[in-house]
Order: sequence, then structure tokens, then C-alpha cells
Amino acid sequence: MMKKTLFAALVACAIGGSGVVSAEDVLISTRNTSLLLRAVEGEPLKIAYYGTLINEAEVAQVWQSGMAFNRPAYPAFNTWPLDEAAIEVEHADGSISLELAVVSVTREATDNGEVVRVLSRDKAYPFEVTNCYRSYTNSDVIEVWSEISHNEKKGDVKLAQFASAYMPVHGDQVWLSHLHGCWANEANLFEEPLTAGMKVIKNRDGVRNGMSDMPEVMLSLDGKPDELSGRVIGAALCYSGNYELRIDTDIDGKYLHHFLAGIDETASQYYLKAGETFVTPEVAFTYSEEGKSGVSRNFHNWARRDGKLHNGTALRDVLLNSWEGVYFDIDTERIVKLIQGAAELGGELFVMDDGWFASEKYRRMKDDAALGDWTVDRQKLPDGIQPLIDEAKKNGLKFGIWIEPEMGNWKSSELYDKHPDWFLQYPGREPILGRGGTQMVLDLANPEVQDFVFSVVDNLMTDYPEISYMKWDANASLANYGSPYLPKNRQSHIYIEYHKGLRNVVERIRAKYPDLVLQACASGGARAGYGTLPYFDEFWGSDDTDALQRIYMQWGLSMFYPAAAMASHVSTVPNHQTGRVVPLKFRFDVAMQGRLGIEMRPSDFTPEELAFAKQAVTDYKRLRELIQQGDLYRLRSPYEGKGDVASLMYVSPDKQKAVFYGYKLKHFAGHTVPPFRMAGLDPNKNYRLHELNVADDGMKSMEGAVISGHLLMTNGIKLVLGTEYSSRVFELTAVE
Ligand code: GLA
Repeated sequence: MMKKTLFAALVACAIGGSGVVSAEDVLISTRNTSLLLRAVEGEPLKIAYYGTLINEAEVAQVWQSGMAFNRPAYPAFNTWPLDEAAIEVEHADGSISLELAVVSVTREATDNGEVVRVLSRDKAYPFEVTNCYRSYTNSDVIEVWSEISHNEKKGDVKLAQFASAYMPVHGDQVWLSHLHGCWANEANLFEEPLTAGMKVIKNRDGVRNGMSDMPEVMLSLDGKPDELSGRVIGAALCYSGNYELRIDTDIDGKYLHHFLAGIDETASQYYLKAGETFVTPEVAFTYSEEGKSGVSRNFHNWARRDGKLHNGTALRDVLLNSWEGVYFDIDTERIVKLIQGAAELGGELFVMDDGWFASEKYRRMKDDAALGDWTVDRQKLPDGIQPLIDEAKKNGLKFGIWIEPEMGNWKSSELYDKHPDWFLQYPGREPILGRGGTQMVLDLANPEVQDFVFSVVDNLMTDYPEISYMKWDANASLANYGSPYLPKNRQSHIYIEYHKGLRNVVERIRAKYPDLVLQACASGGARAGYGTLPYFDEFWGSDDTDALQRIYMQWGLSMFYPAAAMASHVSTVPNHQTGRVVPLKFRFDVAMQGRLGIEMRPSDFTPEELAFAKQAVTDYKRLRELIQQGDLYRLRSPYEGKGDVASLMYVSPDKQKAVFYGYKLKHFAGHTVPPFRMAGLDPNKNYRLHELNVADDGMKSMEGAVISGHLLMTNGIKLVLGTEYSSRVFELTAVE
């Protein structure tokens, strides 16, 4: 009894919308959602509920309804019920038993929510886990992670499984939505009902953790997912390295689903020293009753306003990137021409991509040499970089540059000649070589290598303080599983230490250069993710710039990431990746869904195209706040129905402005395009439609029409879309 009273005192500091209902029930709430734990001292921490906001009176009712999960919040291996484990350890004496029991609960208010920490201790060993919950009131996100430590005298404890979080999900018609892809075809949306057995979503690239699956999912609780209605849980693992999300479907093969997420443990057993704390990455959970788009909006708000996207509320510049325009064939004249072209288009930033660096011995004529040798190629750029920065400035542009600091070329860079032991390598074995047949990953477990990676950015910023943007690329897998730095008996820490090292570096960069805009790129879109974005302002979505294929990829990316983070560029035709020829209007209409850029030679535009492009850039700049910071409503999925149309819109939070996009992806004779119903508008407001990027195709526009939000959302509009790759974009403005 004494114990219970003391325990109640520990938890009795209710904050904001959350509350402590009894000594045991710990209610964590945001504006619209709640998570309920039961923490009884001496017993395993239980999770009881996650979903719509409940009040304190309803806490008991969750239990009375028989709907409380009543499952361990962090199931340990071989504890009852014997389901998938979140944690499995081998104690210093060889025992693999673990019985965690609650010791204390603390709650601490933050600026935008609170942090709840539940400490549990093993009943037999000095081994502890703290399960942590950080709520974000306004964005309806609750991050969950775990901190593991021990004080065992006999030696290290081996962590064999160490998930960040476990979440039970109830429902007999739960659907999974997740993203999957490959190079140049990233982030495709896949949806399926959960049925008996285990679904695993994972990445084991070591470096580029969005290369295959992506570490986010949505679980729609009411059957086939809908964009605008229905109960949906979203989960995003915030980690840049290898991960595994597991969903094990149990009870009648459909009713109870065990969701676990965390670092992938393959070849990653971690030996934890006494006194050391192993902190897992966070899993961000959100819940919405406004369908998948509702979950997306929660993630977007959390990213932009709660620090999960670096400088999340800053407006992004329109840029021109040199890659598809000149590839490795950089020279002063070509770059100056690109800068001037970018300025004429109304761009604000010029980015010089790969190909600008070399060493005395090695030149970067293609992707097989000089990576790691971060000095200017004086044959290509005899006067160096400064005149280019000056030229950009003269033209009213900022200047950006490409780097790939975590990697080097094996036997074809001075970096390798000087520091072969900085490269990850299998001792005594032929290396597995990446891009260009020579590329390998550096050993970021080594603090000297971390210093080197930091110095790539720091030296450039010291030499050229006016650089305002860096595209940080990473184009190889962690294939050679051997760290010259880590001890022989700690090689299983490589994947984890690599990402700890990377984090150290980006944290140092952010401390020194908070305003430098960083783009995360990894062979295209493989570093879109919330392990990376707190330090990066945006990501490159894909090396495929084909506007048609981008519709599918951007649709997928928009499930979890805001438009502010999604770099999307207009490139030339025929497209360099697919050979497809689509109108310039369609290319702009697609690129204007995200952070607009141009990735071609402006000199390739005809005078008419140039005039069109200039107007599009002007309109984008006027509307970018709405696009980059607005609320996203996905309307018609390119993945559904006949797959012949796609449509989405952004609405300003005050519902005064919106921008609507409609695309035709396929054309069949005799097939009528269905009406497009909008969403997210104020039904009581009238909106004036103004068409953007008007094409000279003789199609009728709705220019100037005034239509109520009510009608736009219930009856919709009939778009005149002609052949394949026709599109319409409307700006909507509320009128009195
Ligand atoms: C990667 C990137 C591209 C480009 C090249 C340069 O493939 O994804 O955008 O920067 O590297 O080598």
C-alpha cells in the first residue's frame, strides 16, 4: 500500500490535455488522440489503448468495454504472452531471461507537449529499460522510443533484439499502406489487407535506407484505405540506417496485429557496457479520422513545426541544378551560361552538381575517380569556384554545390592512397565495389573519419562563406562489412556506429552552420526519411525526372513528407531516364507540387517555352507558401481505378487560398474523365478560380468562375483534359 501511494505521487503531475487517472493509468493525449498505458509498480508496463482522444472518465470505460489491449508495452523475449519480442538480451552470465517490472513514471512538460518516461527494471538482474513517450499536442504525433542500460558486474550485456516500440492494433479489416521501390522508381505506394502471418518491411543497404522499402506505414482500420475518411494510424521510424518494421497478425488470422519497429538487428548484436545507455531511434505514431490524407497532414505539420524537418517553416528557393544539363562536363563557360539562364527564368539559387573536383593524380571525368578529393579541378575551372559564386551573385542568385563526403573511390582517389584504412573493408577479401566499379563507403565509426566528413563541409564553407546550399549525396551500399577502427569482437556494431558517426557529423555541421541549406540525396530518393530530415532541409526524390513517373513517386512521398521537403525538377525531353516526351506544361504542373527546380539547360527552351517557364516560376513564387506550408488533400490516386487521372490540392490553414492540380495520365478513345471533387475548403466560402500554366491547346478553361466550397467539394468540377499528359492547375481564392 505504501508503495502504491509513493508511486501515485510520482505519476501525479498531470499536464495539458493528459492526465493521471489512477496510480496505474497513464493517459498521454494530443489535440485529437490519446495513448493509454497501465503502469503498476512491480508488473510489466502495459499498453491499453491508442486512437481517438479520450477523456479521463473514458479511461475506465476503455477497460470496461473489453477493448483495452492489455498487452506488454515493450514485450520481452519469453515473457507471457509469447508473441513477437521487442527486446531480447543475453546477460553477462549467459542467461537470456528478462522480466521487466515498472519502477517509476515521470512526466515533464515541453513547449509543444510532454515527455513521459516509464522506468522498468528486471526482477533478477540490474538491467533497466526506460520506455519514453513524447507527445506533440498540435500535430497529433506521439514519438515512442526506448533507453536500455545495465549495471551487471560480470561484463557486457548482448542486445539481440532492441525494437524502438511495440504497438498492438485491433481490427478485422486492417489495411497496410507502405512505400517500396528501387533506383529511379522510388516510393511507389502498395496497399494490402493484413492477413495471418508476418509482414516485414526492411532495409539492409547500410547507408541508403530508403532504397527499397521505406520506414513508414499507414494502417487503415476500416477496410480499404480512403484518402479523406476513416480511422488511420501512421507510423514513421526516425532512423537513417538499417531498419525493420514487423506486423504479425494474430487471433483468427486477422483481429490482433502486433506492430514493432526499430533498428534491424541483422548482423547488429550490440554489446552494451555497464553504465552505457543504448537509445533506440523514435517511432512517430499519429492517428487521424480523416483518412490517409489526414495522417499525412499530421506528419507534415509535425515535420515543419516540431523540428523534424530542418528549418521546416522557411520558404524554399527555386533553383537550377547543373546535373542533367551538363553532367560531369563542367567548365567555367557552361556554368556561367547555366547561371545566367537560371537568372533569366527567375531562379534564386544555382547548384553546381558532381564533376567540379579533382586531385593532382585523379580527375572526376565520370563516376569512377577522385571521390574524396575535395579540391577544385583547375583544368575544368581554371579560376576556381569564387568567380562562379560572384557570377551567381551578379545575377541575383545564391550558390550551391554537390558533395558526397561519406564515400571515396577505391584505388582511384588520393583519399584512398593516403588513408586506405578509412575505407570499410572485409579484411583479406576482395572488396565489393559500388558505383563506377570503384566506390566504397568510409568508416564513420572512426572519429578521424567523422572529422574528415565534417571538414568537407567546413573547408568549403571556410573558403567560400557565401555557399548557401549543399547537395549531400551518398551513392553506395555499406557492402564491405569490416571496420578497421572497431575491435575484432565488436564488428557487429558497424551498421549502428556508422549512423551514430553520421549523426555526430551532421549535428556538428548544424551547430556551426544552422542556415546552410542541405539537400539529402542518395542515388536519388534513398535518403528521404525522418532519421535524416531533422538535419536536412529537403531531399531529392528520385534520379528519375520523368514527370509521368514522378506523379506516382511524389504521391507516395507525400504520404509522409511535406512538399517543402520534396525537391522536384523540370527536365528536358526526351526524358533522360525514360525517353518519354511530355509537354512543358505537364512537367511544370508536376514539379510545382513540391520545391520547384529546373534541371536542364535553359538555352534548350524555345522563346515560347522560355516565356512559359518564366511565368510558371513567377506564379510558383507567389504560391509557394501555400504549396510548401499548406494542408495537403490527395483527391484521385494514380494507383486506383483505371489509373488514368491523378489529382491533389493544397489549402491554406485559414482556407482562404488553395491550389488544385489535375492530371491525365492515359488516354483512351471514348473514355470520359470523371469529375474532380475537391476537399479541405470552407463550404461556406465562394472561391474564384484562376488557371495557372495555361497551355495553348485550345482547351476551355474555367478562368474567373466563382464556385462555392460546398459545391466544389460535393459536386466537383469537370476538367477539360485532352490527350495523355494534359493537366490543369487552378489557384482558388476565397471571395466575399
Ligand atoms: C546521384 C544523384 C544525382 C547526381 C549524381 C551525381 O546519382 O542522385 O542527382 O547528383 O549522383 O553523380
